[in-house]
Amino acid sequence: MAPAHTQTSTSRRRAAQRRASAAGQSALVMLKADHKAVADLAERFEKARAPQKKPIAATICKELTIHATIEEEIFYPALRQVADEQLEELLNEAQVEHQSVKDLVAQIEDMLHGSGDEGMFEARVKVLAEYVKHHVREEEREMFPLVRDTDIDLKALGDRLARRKEELKRQLQAH
Ligand SMILES: [Fe+2]
Ligand SMILES: [Fe+2]
Repeated sequence: MAPAHTQTSTSRRRAAQRRASAAGQSALVMLKADHKAVADLAERFEKARAPQKKPIAATICKELTIHATIEEEIFYPALRQVADEQLEELLNEAQVEHQSVKDLVAQIEDMLHGSGDEGMFEARVKVLAEYVKHHVREEEREMFPLVRDTDIDLKALGDRLARRKEELKRQLQAH
């Protein structure tokens, strides 16, 4: 067991991190908010009547594209720099899962821009939502706790993620 003073400083550090998170600035808080937004959209898709499903699916695809991009460009590489073996493995899995998500997003976007079988459209969005749910659970329950134990400046990382997110949003809106 760790000596008492170590435990105290660890719990102080954790409390400080929790306070930082509560301010809504940390990378993890921001990414979790993205996860929640997509989960809410998936629920809306599920409940929506047929004519509303396509615009909701389009928003889900856009949000996921932005989220996956900022994680792949900024978040995951920052973690790789400090990752131990366990975190490294989770990052590899996450990258593979992102590829599956992006493939499905591409298929759904193709259907949104063309015609396609309505039944397959719904099935694809539902499967996408399941994939994302699984992936998010791994990030939030397995990856993020390991990230909290690193020395990464989560506030600075959050700022970088937020800046890139805004940039991507503007780019996607322009199209
Ligand atoms: Fe991810
Ligand atoms: Fe994520």
